[in-house]
This record gives sequence, C-alpha cells and structure tokens, in this order.
Amino acid sequence: MSNAPADEDFAAVYMRTKQRLGVLYHEGEFRYPHNGPWPERSFDYPYGQAPEVLNIPADEQKDWDLHVGQYYKDNALGSLHTGLSPFGIQAAEFAAACMARNGLRAYDDIDDGQFAELLCEGLYSKFLEPLTDADRDQFAVDIIDTDHYAYYKSDYRCMRVVKDTWPGEYAAPSIALVRRPKDESRRYDWEAVAIALSHKGDDGDYVPVRKAPIFRPKDPNWWLARYYVLQGAIHRINLIDHVKVHFPSDAVNAITKTVLPRWHLVYKFLLPHFRLTLPVNYAVLEGQRSLINRDTWYPWSPFAAKGSEVRRLLPFAWAGAAFYDMDDTDSFPPFRFSLSPDTMPDPDDPAHATRPTYIGLGLSRYGAFQRDYYEPVLALAKQVVAQLPPPPADPAAHDDLAWLEIQHWAAECAKFMPGFPDWRAICDSETLARVLAYLVWNAAVVHTSDHATLHRMMDQRPVPFVLRTPPPKDPDTPVRTEVGKVLPAGVGTALNHLLERLEGDTGPVEAFAEWLEREKDGVVKSHSLVELAGPADLTYAKMADLLFYLPHNTTLLYDCDYGFQADDSAMVPEGQHRPLLGAARKQALAAAIDAFKRDLDAVDASHQEAINRFGFPKLRPDPGLDPASAEYRRQAQQQCMGAGIQY
Ligand SMILES: [Fe+2]
Repeated sequence: MSNAPADEDFAAVYMRTKQRLGVLYHEGEFRYPHNGPWPERSFDYPYGQAPEVLNIPADEQKDWDLHVGQYYKDNALGSLHTGLSPFGIQAAEFAAACMARNGLRAYDDIDDGQFAELLCEGLYSKFLEPLTDADRDQFAVDIIDTDHYAYYKSDYRCMRVVKDTWPGEYAAPSIALVRRPKDESRRYDWEAVAIALSHKGDDGDYVPVRKAPIFRPKDPNWWLARYYVLQGAIHRINLIDHVKVHFPSDAVNAITKTVLPRWHLVYKFLLPHFRLTLPVNYAVLEGQRSLINRDTWYPWSPFAAKGSEVRRLLPFAWAGAAFYDMDDTDSFPPFRFSLSPDTMPDPDDPAHATRPTYIGLGLSRYGAFQRDYYEPVLALAKQVVAQLPPPPADPAAHDDLAWLEIQHWAAECAKFMPGFPDWRAICDSETLARVLAYLVWNAAVVHTSDHATLHRMMDQRPVPFVLRTPPPKDPDTPVRTEVGKVLPAGVGTALNHLLERLEGDTGPVEAFAEWLEREKDGVVKSHSLVELAGPADLTYAKMADLLFYLPHNTTLLYDCDYGFQADDSAMVPEGQHRPLLGAARKQALAAAIDAFKRDLDAVDASHQEAINRFGFPKLRPDPGLDPASAEYRRQAQQQCMGAGIQY
C-alpha cells in the first residue's frame, strides 16, 4: 500500500499502463494538444467560489462571439439589418405599462395564492426544504395543524451579506414558512403561513432573522413582507442557486476537453452539452459588460446593490454558509457533486450519507418536470457506457485504454469537484452513467428550465429586485409614505412652468398642483401609494430579462450532434491501436439516440399543461413548422430545451 496521495497513485498507474500498452499519442488526437483550458482556484473569495476557467480557447471565444455576443449586440441596440426592436425600448415600454397599472407601487399586486404559487410551484420551489428544530421553535405558534399539513420553509437569510444597497434602496434577510396538505390529491395546494423578516437595527446591521418580527397574512404589513421575500428570492436565484447550475461543472468541462482524446466515447457524449459554456461563464464572472461587474454598472444590472456587494452572495453557492461562519444554516450547504437529482450529499457526512432534494421530496411540479427528463438522459447515458468494454476489475492493474483515460479524467475532475468519483470509484458502469447523466441533465434540462421559468415570471409576475420603502419593523403599524418624498424632485416646479405656458383650460393641472402643495408633507396610508420602485428600476430589470434570462439557445437537447457516426481513423497514428467505435457499436448508439428522442417526446407530452401554465420549456418547435422558417427558429431559440449552458 502506498502512502502517496491518491492522485499520485494514479499517476503511477497511468504512466505504467500506457507504457505497457505502447501508447504514443499524436497531437491530432486531442482537441487542445497544448495549453488546453484548465480550472484554477478563484481568489475573489478564497475557498468560497467554484474554480474558474480563465484561459478560454480562441475557437470557443469565436463561437461565443458569433452565437452569443452577436445576439447581445443585435438585441441591446437593435439593428437595421435584423430589423429587431432594441431591447431597451421594449424594456421602457414594459416599465411604462407597469407604472400606468400600479402607480407609485410600480409592481403588480399579488394575492396570497399567487405568492404561494411563486414560492412553491415554479423556479423558486427549488429553495423549499424541511424545517429544522430552530425553525420549529421560531414558528411554534404557526405550526398548528401537523395532522393535516406538512410544513416547509423558503430561506433568504443569505441576504444578510447584502448590506450596502444603492442609495434609497433596501434589502432584508427573511424566512418564509409554507405548508401543503398531507392529502396526496392536494399535494400542490400550497399556502404561505408566516414570514420572519429582518430590518436594520440601531447598529446599522440586520437584526438576526431568528430574532426578527414575524408577519402573518392578517397583519397590515404582510403585503410588504411578501415583496421582501420575493426580493430575496430573485437575488438568491441569480447569485446562488442558478450559479450552482453554471459554474461548478466548468472544471469538468475544461478537463474533458483537455484530457480526453477526441475519439473517446465520453468526450463525444459530453461535448455537445459543454459547447459555449466556458466563454459564457467567463463573460458573467469577468466580462467587462457583465450584469455583476464588480466596479461599474450597466442598464441591464437590476440588483439592489452594486456588483461587488451582490457578489458577496456567490460563496453561498460553493462554500455554503460556512464561508460566513453562519451557524443554523442547513439551507446553504457546501457544493458537492451528486449522482442523482433526488438526493444531495448530507453536509454532516457527505462521503456516506445523503438527504433528499426538493425533487426527491416531490415538492413541486417544477421538480417533477425536471425529474421526468432525467430518466431518458440516464437511459441514454447507460447505453453510451454499455458501448465501452466492462470496467476493469482492478482499477490499478488492467490493459484497457478507454477506461484508463476515464480514470485519468475522473482523477483530475475529483481534484476540483468535491464529491466527484475518484479514479477507483469511477470504474463502475452505473457510477459512470450517473455521472454523465447528471452533467448532461444539469446543463440541458435544469439550465433551460431555470431560464424559461424566470423569463415567464419576469413577464407576468412582480419581480421586485428593487424596493424603495424600508422593510417594516413590526407587523402592525401600517407603513406610510409622504407624498412629497416619493415624487421626483422638481415636479412642483415643472407644474408651475406648465401652468405659465398653458393657455386656456388649465383646470386639471392647476388642481393637481394645488393638491400637491397641500399634501406634499401629508401622510398617505394606502399601500397602493407606497413607492416600491421607479420606472428606471423596472426598465433595468426588463433589460436583464430580455438579454440574459429569455432563453437564446444555439443547439437543442433533442437533436444535438454527438458525432458517434464519425470516422476517427485518420486521428490515429500509423502502427497504433485505439478503441475506436466499430460498426456494431455505431449502430447501437444510433438506436439509443432514436429511443432517447422517443422517450423525450413522451416526457414533453406528459407535461403540456404545466408547460403552458408555468412556462416550462418545451422539447422542440411545434411539429409541422418548416425548419427553415423564422417561427421555427424563434421557438427553438427561445422556448425549447437547449443542449447546454449557452447563455
Ligand atoms: Fe444561466
């Protein structure tokens, strides 16, 4: 038994086996024979953020420029040659319509049913989790009918790190308590029961949520507490939970492209799902025009604080709440790779125990939708793995080049991805299939589902990135607003100028000016007049939606090209043997793809109602559309399940 670290053990196995097999690789066998992309630790938040890939290969950057960068240019600015209406104009129209409907409150009103649906049915349902003892203590008087209801929480305590908001804007950490009937037939009849909502105390910092006031549906300030929960939710999805979908697999992406030969079956299977992702993620984290640029601001940045401040949420996606030494923080565990959508490694014993995810707990239609798509992806992954020779019985001593390279790949991935099977554990067909399935499912299904539902929500529901009225300090004293403070400075002067210039009937203007003079220091109680956001805030949020949330796929899951049928013999140097795919295996893979498409179609058909109701992505453009038509392209780009993380 060697005392060397596991990866050094593997280095010896790798070199010895390759030598014995007489393998001399030619650079044509690799996508990047020199200076390939490679992950490195991120030092923005030491140990807090997933490893980043900073050396983006030129060919991938070019692909991004062509398919993603050009989309931003065409749509942000509009373009004579595309005839597109600039997103800025569409966003301003959206903002004007919101202000016309809602006045100073800006955001649409929501009722308790819509609030519960937002938290528990769609995108935000991924935050749902069982209660802890601390939750049961805090909400003891609200958890009253455990015979008939199961209680869960939706946790936004992460917002405690967003302290330095933009002037005039506010944020606050919170926890929402929700429940659903235990009666299976009413499993999605969710209700919001209570909200623990913090605010800043005299010391200028947030009151701990565990000591914060609790708001209930009958309280006068419940309506405002709901908006603060939704503000926490939109920041959490953008900076934490959708971040988990994007960045941790960058390490595997880069290692796959650098380590595995191009003829390798695992390389071929993953490649279509890893296209565009490295430059996309680089643009988000380090790009000059990113919506979370650390030092500057763009009109597509909708957050409540500047980039460097909201980025403080990022470590919750990787190191978890431990990064901020927060206790009582089961909601933000450290990131670990998982072999199933139903479970996640238990943070208390990650190597041996698991706990159910919201999908495994069956908490929402959103979870069921994604779970159902996992099955065909796993079935295809198993078929792909079945075309490899059986895994070596002894991972340290065998003569199988295909598996040796899989071990090499796993050994490197495991260094950057906690929970990734190491070079010994990967030598199991079921484990390898589950690793591949999870990577593909995450990139295609989870990513597109997040974007499609986020876009639907931005279009049809209030999404309060910005709140311009402070969080209420107690549930009962109605929040008031002074008319003079919420109207933009200079309104009175402008009215006077208008009166001077107008001739004839100045009645309504004069009346409004008199009312303003009378009421400007007065107090208005109606919450419909409490200012929550301004037209600019809504415009920026809609810009972010149109540029970044609205899906813009380049390729689709349904028909992406794995290149299984390609003839790779030209890659192999004279006199060398490689485990290339023969005719029988190519045929088996073609049959597996056909079965995959049938299975995907069946999942799509079984979720039609939820696709229409919640904006979940559909599998492919409507049958009958001409693939050359603009409508086919629009549906493929904006409404369908993409092959990977491409925006
Ligand atoms: Fe994304």
